[in-house]
Amino acid sequence: METAVFESSDDFSQKYYTERHKNLIAPSTLDPKLNRVIARTKGTRVWDESRKEYIDFNASVGTSGVGHCHPKMLEMLRKQLEIIDFIEPTGFNHRIRELKVAGKEYEISLVALAKTLLPLMFPDTSLSLLRMIPEVTGAQAVNAAVKLFLKANPGKYHFLGFRNAFDGRHGFSLDFTNSKPIQKQDYPSSGIVVHYLPFPDSYENLEEAKSELSNIPLKNVSAFLGEYLQGEGGFKWPVVAYMDEFLGFLRDLGIRIAIDEIQSGLGRTGKWFAWQHGTVTPDVVIAGKALGGGAVPMSAVGYNRELFNFKDTEVLETGWHSGTFPGYITAVAGGIMFLDIMKEEKVLENVILRSAELYDVLRHHSGEPDSLTDYCKRTGFGFMQGLVFRQHDSKPYPEWRNTVLKNLREAEPVGILTLPAGNDKTNPTIRFEPCLIAPESEMEYLDDTLTKVLYKK
Ligand SMILES: Cc1ncc(COP(=O)(O)O)c(C=O)c1O
Repeated sequence: METAVFESSDDFSQKYYTERHKNLIAPSTLDPKLNRVIARTKGTRVWDESRKEYIDFNASVGTSGVGHCHPKMLEMLRKQLEIIDFIEPTGFNHRIRELKVAGKEYEISLVALAKTLLPLMFPDTSLSLLRMIPEVTGAQAVNAAVKLFLKANPGKYHFLGFRNAFDGRHGFSLDFTNSKPIQKQDYPSSGIVVHYLPFPDSYENLEEAKSELSNIPLKNVSAFLGEYLQGEGGFKWPVVAYMDEFLGFLRDLGIRIAIDEIQSGLGRTGKWFAWQHGTVTPDVVIAGKALGGGAVPMSAVGYNRELFNFKDTEVLETGWHSGTFPGYITAVAGGIMFLDIMKEEKVLENVILRSAELYDVLRHHSGEPDSLTDYCKRTGFGFMQGLVFRQHDSKPYPEWRNTVLKNLREAEPVGILTLPAGNDKTNPTIRFEPCLIAPESEMEYLDDTLTKVLYKK
């Protein structure tokens, strides 16, 4: 196991800090039950203030793709910041022509990022048909995608989404989100109307989605926007053939398609984007989280210009959509380095191998509903898999899920840090979403640790 290098000996305890946090910071974000004060991150590991070591088994909610503090990422960001710190990107283009990192030269510009990212989002589409909108967070990118559709179809305010979706917590993105009631508490609709359809992970859901579509006035519908693999909703992977049928059905009805790949994209399912497991090419792909290399916030919307009959350059006038930070140079540098590390270190190949191991580990600890004992069941795909906790009669068992989360965190010699997903009333889940570079030994360690702590209730 790696050992942490601490440069200072901080002596204020986690408890003391957590108390102060409560007195100064609004409680809306941090779950005190899960709270740990993180003092150091490196590779797939993090350390808390008491110097306890953990494996980051949720990759900071899918953000830390190539691991924490990757040396090339750090070198890139340091060098870029020494040349240009920040120039607002609405009034000026910026470019660093040749930045040398680990002996290799990089062009740092939005153009260089788009040239790499767009063909990964749409591998079968000519680059000349594609455009990128840079954004900062996932929710902002979803909002930008919705604005694109509103611009492409003026006056059409209805959209289709999935039940149990999570697409963000701001503006239009929150209209699509419906995985937990708390997310929308006291929030009025932003003005668009979202119709939520069942997620096609079963034949019944597929058929229900098709039948519900027949009750929606489609002439008012602008587009469908949804996740290919539901994250917050409980790490749900569709039946790919049913998702194909669902998206194909939308296509036949003339409905545009946007896939929210903020969590599932950029290698997490063993392909660059999860939709590439199927056959229906979306009009819009939304990426975020890992795109900033786990170090800077960066998101992006890729779209096919056909949405606008190739007149997007006339329709999307300057100033229509912009901001202080979208496409700022440090985020661009992070994105360029992240994609380069993914390719150079053959990270997709690691995800394919390791996620088969993760599958075996979680299957090993899965039970069936007809047993007399409480059981959990494997869910998800690739490096977005989980365990759903149930009582012997199949009722959801969130209390057991919470105990296991705590047991994993407190495991020795190394804790396992992860998060809940799903809804306590239907599918209380623990997510296992490792850094994309996670080694085989961490899958084995998870297996041993689950053997020790899973039934310690
Ligand atoms: C699928 C999906 N969409 C959108 C978002 C929102 O991203 P952000 O938190 O960066 O706004 C998330 C975040 O978890 C997500 O998982």
